[in-house]
Amino acid sequence: MKKALALSMAAAMALSLAACTSTSSSTAASDSSAAGTSEAASTASTEGGTVANKDKPLIWFNRQPSNSTTGALDMEALSFNDNTYYVGFDANQGAELQGTMIRDYIEANIDTIDRNGDGIIGYVLAVGDIGHNDSIARTRGVRAALGTGVEAADGSIDSTPVGTNTDGTATAVQDGTLNINGKTYTVRELASQEMKNSAGATWDAGTASNAISAWASSLGDSIDIVVSNNDGMGMAMFNSWSQEAGVPTFGYDANADAVAAIADGYGGTISQHADVQAYLTLRLIRNALDGVDINTGISTADDAGNVLSDDVYYYDEASRSYYALNVAVTAENYTEFTDSTKTYEPVSAQLDATAHPEKTVWLDIYNAADNFLSATYQPLLEKYDDLLNLNVEYIGGDGQTEANITNRLGNPSQYDAFAINMVKTDNAASYTALLSQ
Ligand code: BGC
Ligand code: CA
Repeated sequence: MKKALALSMAAAMALSLAACTSTSSSTAASDSSAAGTSEAASTASTEGGTVANKDKPLIWFNRQPSNSTTGALDMEALSFNDNTYYVGFDANQGAELQGTMIRDYIEANIDTIDRNGDGIIGYVLAVGDIGHNDSIARTRGVRAALGTGVEAADGSIDSTPVGTNTDGTATAVQDGTLNINGKTYTVRELASQEMKNSAGATWDAGTASNAISAWASSLGDSIDIVVSNNDGMGMAMFNSWSQEAGVPTFGYDANADAVAAIADGYGGTISQHADVQAYLTLRLIRNALDGVDINTGISTADDAGNVLSDDVYYYDEASRSYYALNVAVTAENYTEFTDSTKTYEPVSAQLDATAHPEKTVWLDIYNAADNFLSATYQPLLEKYDDLLNLNVEYIGGDGQTEANITNRLGNPSQYDAFAINMVKTDNAASYTALLSQ
């Protein structure tokens, strides 16, 4: 069976090699006959032959195809075709920055931070999605910097939420110690929880707001710091409790409202360089459709002068992933980050519409209510799609059901390329199956 398949593949390859120049037209012909008279097939190809959906550019972004339990990357999805990539940010570098930012804050404010004066610095932690590798990395980064992490069997820091840990006996964490000005302080993760609502949506701000109310009433002034895996949940907790209580709150994403809140006591956040990620998401598509080197306008300047320097991103060949680098945003520098939807200056030049004609892209956001994606990432995409002459159809999901999104990819032949943000990182195959049909 296997052998027969290999043989017929070899035969097909030999045939296509022999036919060389006529390959694309014969593929196009068989494709459009398969598609019958559907208008979809004809709209996809404005020029040249019809490209099979499985061969069109496919960019995964924000949720990296991976096993939500083990974190192992789904390389089948990441190398679906020659123009498949992931765009995200360096989760470990960002997580370390987040942890360090919080530790620095504690050190600088040690005289006032211990609200009840019991020598224990207590924090609570809002976890976004226990199966999302960015969320896992942030939990680990915070625990590593504060000394509260414990190593799991595989040597990595356990990222399991503890529920409540008032007395410090939880096993997923330990009490950490910080030596500051010759004095030793205990740091305790008093509580942590995945912020998932009853319908199943993760990173849920409403759930975080309820959680902080519950924690505030049970833990009271033993809470000295509020930490969140993102600003959506962080701001929900800040607005419902910590601003008034005067408890520093730290998030992630550098959403505009969070950056502005630094003036009112929000402790800090991390910019994941969404301005670079949104550019990369669409730029890779542009390059693939133009048939030029994939790093045009990325590592090398394009014809309009757009180029990225290597202090804002890197490419990892093994995971076929482009990662933006993170920057800490605190009281010291937040005024430079107030406009979170401004395109990144070095890649803000308009492409010429004759050399780079309009193409149509299908793009989804896993949850239309996700603060970061809706308030920061999508507005950036909408600016870059103009600059790159891409006509993008934006699909917003409910954050819970993959089918709510995949149902709206009923006719992939209508589009030249796809950019996908999954509800669950395990679910890549439900998209690639639609493109393989
Ligand atoms: C962001 C979160 C967001 C999540 C969605 C993360 O990179 O930091 O704010 O909720 O992506 O997948
Ligand atoms: Ca205390």
